Amino acid sequence: MFQIASAFSAFFLASAVLGNPAGRLEGPASHQQQKLQDCLAVRGVPTTLNSSSDWSSLIAAFNLRLQYTPTAVTLPTTPQHVSDSVTCAIAAGVKVQPRSGGHSYGSYSLGGKDGSLMVDLQKFNSISLNKSTGIVAVGGGVRLGNLGVGIFQQGQRALPHGTFPGVGIGGHYTHGGFGYSSRRWGLALDTIVAMDVVLADGRYIHATSTSYPDIYYALRGAADSFGIVTTFHLQTQSAPSQVVSFSASFASALKSADTAANIVLKLQTFATSSSYMDRNTTLEVYMNVNGEFSIRGWYFGDRDYFSKTVFSAMLDGMPTPDNSTVQYRTWLDALEDIAEGEPLAEPLIGYNNHQTFYSKSVVTREAEPLTKTALESFFAYVIKKGLSATFPWNTFIALYGGKDSQINKPALADSAAYSHRDSLWVFQNIGSSPDFLPPFAPEIMNFVDGLNTALTSAQPDGDFLAYPNYLDPALTPAEAARLYYGDVTYNRLVKIKKAVDPKAVFWNPQAIGNAIL
Ligand SMILES: Cc1cc2nc3c(=O)[nH]c(=O)nc-3n(C[C@H](O)[C@H](O)[C@H](O)COP(=O)(O)OP(=O)(O)OC[C@H]3O[C@@H](n4cnc5c(N)ncnc54)[C@H](O)[C@@H]3O)c2cc1C
Ligand SMILES: *[C@@H]1O[C@H](CO)[C@@H](O)[C@H](O)[C@H]1NC(C)=O
Ligand SMILES: *[C@@H]1O[C@H](CO)[C@@H](O)[C@H](O)[C@H]1NC(C)=O
Ligand SMILES: *[C@@H]1O[C@H](CO)[C@@H](O)[C@H](O)[C@H]1NC(C)=O
Ligand SMILES: *[C@@H]1O[C@H](CO)[C@@H](O)[C@H](O)[C@H]1NC(C)=O
Repeated sequence: MFQIASAFSAFFLASAVLGNPAGRLEGPASHQQQKLQDCLAVRGVPTTLNSSSDWSSLIAAFNLRLQYTPTAVTLPTTPQHVSDSVTCAIAAGVKVQPRSGGHSYGSYSLGGKDGSLMVDLQKFNSISLNKSTGIVAVGGGVRLGNLGVGIFQQGQRALPHGTFPGVGIGGHYTHGGFGYSSRRWGLALDTIVAMDVVLADGRYIHATSTSYPDIYYALRGAADSFGIVTTFHLQTQSAPSQVVSFSASFASALKSADTAANIVLKLQTFATSSSYMDRNTTLEVYMNVNGEFSIRGWYFGDRDYFSKTVFSAMLDGMPTPDNSTVQYRTWLDALEDIAEGEPLAEPLIGYNNHQTFYSKSVVTREAEPLTKTALESFFAYVIKKGLSATFPWNTFIALYGGKDSQINKPALADSAAYSHRDSLWVFQNIGSSPDFLPPFAPEIMNFVDGLNTALTSAQPDGDFLAYPNYLDPALTPAEAARLYYGDVTYNRLVKIKKAVDPKAVFWNPQAIGNAIL
């Protein structure tokens, strides 16, 4: 299996006990809070307040860099509880955000500010596969690891989704969702055939492409601003009995920006034009503070064929790798290999992983392949600043586009509020505090900014974007609107927002409607 062990993984082992006191709400705020509490109590909605002994652990952010204090947390067990949570919040004038896996990089499921109502979906944890249709009904609080294992055990089925088992379906499936089968099966959100969702007026509806099509469109890309999905209905695929897992390490090439840039440039040429490239190959470049630099991925098909033809064509013209691996893995082993050291099965309650980090993305365009100049500038920065850094960082460069990518099917272009159907690479640059706990030094953020800028400033006409699931809380609402959605999609979303949530009940700092484009 390929080496994922990195400083970043160690982070997942760290857990923190928060000594963070709940923010004080005085005067009108506490009146508001009382009103909310009374309404929730009358309607029998399970609620946790700051007087509860498990309050601190319940509200602990995944990203401890950004801890916010909600005014209350509801723990609904029925759609009616979700609906009552929303209508009580409206009556009290409190903003709402649901939490699924809680892995928002900006802690937006906590509201993204103090004083919101968090609707925690942890009790919506069922996974139920219909074997004749292959459609699975999944509760809005299910984590990806449990989802992958559940559908495999119920019927040898699989779905495309991200790697980290603790991530929740609620954020992940509604803001893209990229994983090692996405070039073959599409993004996670492309598998959504229907959603049961509570809207801002408390209505509980079933949204599909033909029933509430605007809601169906908006939720697939921007659900945080439009509703609370209690159940997802997803079209699964037959899980392959095995996949080919491959890696090639080029750590010794990381001494020269020119050599490293040429490797990625060659990979780009292969990905976009080789006759050996199709949807069955997944590719990612990985780097970290320890000087790791590798190409890795999966191939759906025969190992020997891959090894002799696809892999050798991929590596042709590159320096000889320090080492490489090509091996069959069963489906569940393959999922576990990329799980960054986490077990696939996550606890249904009491999940307690935390990190302290800042992350930025760069989405590049099919029409603007990366230039040698941009890659050389990026690697020069990595070599000069990255290899001597005193804190953990890593970079993932995942191939979203390239030949035959099912993410970029033209028919998908305007079908969902996720609008990047012409992406080639998606960079994710992450910097963490040394022990993965607070405090977080500003120099780490500057370093991550620097990784992005080294690339983008060296290709001024690159037309770069950002990936909504790698939420960047440092963006202004207008920057977020432009980089995540673009003006056509954003303006369509603003119209829908005005129609279904005119008071902006579903709010976070980058919610739809916070900017004018
Ligand atoms: C370690 C790690 C690895 C990752 N790996 C990948 C990867 O491989 N590929 C990838 O694409 N992404 C990856 N991500 C990013 C991940 O997809 C996003 O952070 C995702 O949005 C988290 O979803 P969540 O439900 O856990 O987060 P949450 O914080 O619960 O939710 C995120 C946002 O969605 C809203 N939301 C949550 N549930 C619902 C719901 N049911 N209905 C409506 N809105 C909802 C929240 O209010 C919030 O605004 C990774 C993140 C981490 C931390
Ligand atoms: C809980 O919230 C109330 C009202 O906002 C506040 O007065 C009180 O100090 C908080 N309690 C704790 C333990 O933080
Ligand atoms: C599976 O879906 C089909 C078609 O919608 C439906 O007729 C059938 O009742 C479902 N099966 C189960 C077990 O729910
Ligand atoms: C592959 O080479 C890298 C250095 O280039 C090294 O860190 C890693 O341990 C090697 N892996 C194996 C399996 O030998
Ligand atoms: C991908 O692999 C499948 C078998 O796993 C094969 O049927 C198909 O022809 C391959 N290529 C494409 C483009 O789908």
